[in-house]
Formats: sequence, C-alpha cells, structure tokens
Amino acid sequence: MALTIKRPNGTEDVTPKNIHKWLTVERIVKETASGYGFKEIRIPTFENTELFQRSVGETTDVVQKEMYSVIAKETKFTLRPEGTAGTIRCMMQNGLLNEAMPQKVFYVLSCFRHERPQAGRLREFHQFGVEMAGSALPSADADVISMAYDIINNLGISNVELKINSIGCPHCRAEYHKALKAYFENKKDELCETCLSRLEKNPMRILDCKSPICSDIAKDAPLILDYLCDECSDHFEKLKSYLDNLDIKYTVDPKIVRGLDYYTKTVFEFVTTDIGAQGTVCGGGRYDGLIEQLGGQHTPALGFAMGLERLILTMENQGISFEDNTGCSLYIAPMDETVIPFAMKLAKSLRDEGFWVEYDTVGRGLKAQMKYSDKLGAAFTIVLGDNEVNSKTAKLKNMKTGEQLDIKLDDTFVQNFSNIAISDMFDDVIDNI
Ligand code: HAM
Repeated sequence: MALTIKRPNGTEDVTPKNIHKWLTVERIVKETASGYGFKEIRIPTFENTELFQRSVGETTDVVQKEMYSVIAKETKFTLRPEGTAGTIRCMMQNGLLNEAMPQKVFYVLSCFRHERPQAGRLREFHQFGVEMAGSALPSADADVISMAYDIINNLGISNVELKINSIGCPHCRAEYHKALKAYFENKKDELCETCLSRLEKNPMRILDCKSPICSDIAKDAPLILDYLCDECSDHFEKLKSYLDNLDIKYTVDPKIVRGLDYYTKTVFEFVTTDIGAQGTVCGGGRYDGLIEQLGGQHTPALGFAMGLERLILTMENQGISFEDNTGCSLYIAPMDETVIPFAMKLAKSLRDEGFWVEYDTVGRGLKAQMKYSDKLGAAFTIVLGDNEVNSKTAKLKNMKTGEQLDIKLDDTFVQNFSNIAISDMFDDVIDNI
C-alpha cells in the first residue's frame, strides 16, 4: 500500500491560494515598523540550547517542556522557540549595542514549541517581533506599545484589548517572591510536580502554569502590583500617562506575568475574543536585565512579538479583506504550434517590462485556453494565429469590458502596454473572503 506522508501535527502549509494573506500582513507590519525607525534583522533558525536556558529561563514551560533540541557532534542545539533571545544574541555578537542608542530591529521568523496543537496554537508558528535596546525610559515603552497598536489598526483588526501590567525589577520582586512562596506553601499538596519544583526556584512561574488545578489555586495569589518599588511604580504611572496622551485604551491586568523569565517592569498583551481560547495576538514587555545576563553590559531593552497565524485568523474571522494584486496581465493564446515561438518572444519582452504574461504551454485548444485565462484572472488576451504573426497585428481584448483594441505587434505595443494596462489593470483586485 502506498504510504501517504502528511505534514507533522501542529504545522501548516501556505499554498499559493493563501499566500496573499501572508504578504498583506507582512507588508503592513514591516511598513508600520519602518515608520517607527525599526530595521529588519535575520537570525539563525537554531541556536545553542544554553541561549534559551539562560534567557527564556530554566523554570519556564517553554524550556522545561516545549523545546525541540538535538545533540549534534556533542553540542546541544535548539530550534528557536521565540525571537528575542536570538535577536539579542545577534545584536551583541555583531556590535549593534556599541552603536548609537536606541537600536531598533524587527524580524519575521518561524518559531517552534512542542505544545498541544489547537486553533491558533501550533508547533511551528510565525512571529513578527521588534526589539529596542538602549532606553530605560517609559516613553520607549509607550513608543513600542503604540507601534503594536498601530499595526493592529493598520491591519483593520478590531475587538482587541490591550492589557498592561508591571512585574517589577529584581529588587521589588524579592519581596513578592516571599509573599508568593508563603501563599503557595499552604497549597503545596495540590500543585503539579513542575510547580512544586518552581516553588523554591521561581514561584512566579506557577502563575502561568497551564494545569487547571494550579491556575485555579493561582487565582487568589498575591499581586505583584502591590509590591512594586518606587522606581517601578513611577515607571508604570508614567507609561499609563503616555498611553493616555496617545489615546491608546488599555486595561491594567495585574494577572499578566508572561511565560518567559526575562521580563522586568512593563509587560503587555493584546487579546481578542474572536479566535477562541488562544486569543493573545501580541505579547511583549521590558527586559532590562537580559543583555547583562547574557554577558553584555547593562542595557535596558524591550519589545514584543505577534503571532502571524493568529493575526491572519483574526482578520479572516472579522471578514477583513486581503490585498491580491497578483492578477495575470496578459494571456497570449496561440492557435497552433507554429506561432508558439512568436508568442514566447512577445511574452518575454513584456515580462522584461515587469508584467505577468502567460501563453499556452500544455497544448490546450482555443476554447480551453480562454477558460484557463479566465482562471488566471488575465486582464487582457491576444489570440495569435498565422494571420496575426504575418501581419504583425492583433486584437487586444480587455477581459473586464470585452472591448477589443487593434494593436501592432511590435516594440511600440510593448512600450504602450504599460499605459493601457496601468489605466485598467492595476486597480487592486481585492479578495473578499
Ligand atoms: P510570546 O508571548 O511567547 O512572547 O509569543 C508572542 C506571540 O506569539 C503570542 O502572543 C502569540 O500571538 C504567538 N504565539 C506564541 N506561541 C504560539 C503558538 N504555539 N502558536 C501560534 N502562535 C503562538 C515571545 O515570544 C516574546 N519573545 C515576545 C517579546 C519580544 N517580548 C519582548 N520582545
């Protein structure tokens, strides 16, 4: 029996039918990021495992349960579960942090986490993320949040709530950890095994455990906002006033702690109720200690990442249109094989001008060719027979209006095609889903 190999659980294919959705989202996120002065960065798909252990954190779900790691020639590597650690490693290694601050970069990349797949939760997913290094001020937090807010608006997405919180600095967190320990100590018997070990090492991680029993216990745990030191509290108040100044609506949610260990002070999430249980379309925050922790000089930094699959799913569920301006410009229909060389050359000269031009390469009859050109959404067609080739004239048919134009099949046509086409073809064809 033939073996049918399917894609692994929790991964997705993007076929040519759907690529325009990705291209629409990628164009908008990149354009918005450029307006804020962020430049693109590209990093390897895998890194030394230690990078994630030291940044994302040994007691996080991501490191403890979800990483895809391999040992190759005695070195342990991991497929990146997120973009921040690799990006900061790259900025450090390439001397970006010695240049004028702030350094602002963005990335579009795939991430890998061995989670239980469900709608909006994949094992390979894609993030658009940004990182800004070199500013400790709350105005930087406001700038980064404002960019995420603009991206969501520019995509046309509505019904998204911005939730913010502060999880303090190592100074105020020490007190908070004591309070958390005391709280969970009393419920020790009910905690899952992983959380039991977190109790000693990092009790804050119990707050985002996915086990229903642990999350139920965590509901009444002490809140970090009650333990903030003056500096963290002041930072948070200023951030809120800046967001008010920009008319960005937010809710303070003291329960947001994020699932990664590097965060300090500001954390935030953009959440929608339109895509089911996995509604966080964007998550981020400040990580002032990370660069030092990875062996660099103390450099405050912050950023966020958005799940591209979740953004697209939200747009689909909200009935938002995606651009699809990839219609075929011209379909050349040869009536028989003898005119193929002429069709080829004509297609080539128009392609050199940047047009999408097709001619028959599978031997269809004229009727079938017309049907196929319809499928391609061709804006114009030319039927080529011996007469046309000999007289170097033909009829150019506008497929939208049915109009026919007598044309000369020479260089002037190639040059004029831009003028004819621009007036008619380059209205974006919008794919209403
Ligand atoms: P994160 O919250 O783990 O943060 O992920 C960011 C976003 O990636 C989430 O809000 C979600 O949209 C998407 N995402 C996460 N896991 C999955 C999954 N399994 N399937 C589909 N989408 C997913 C980070 O990764 C941080 N590095 C963000 C950051 C950048 N913080 C500072 N700078």
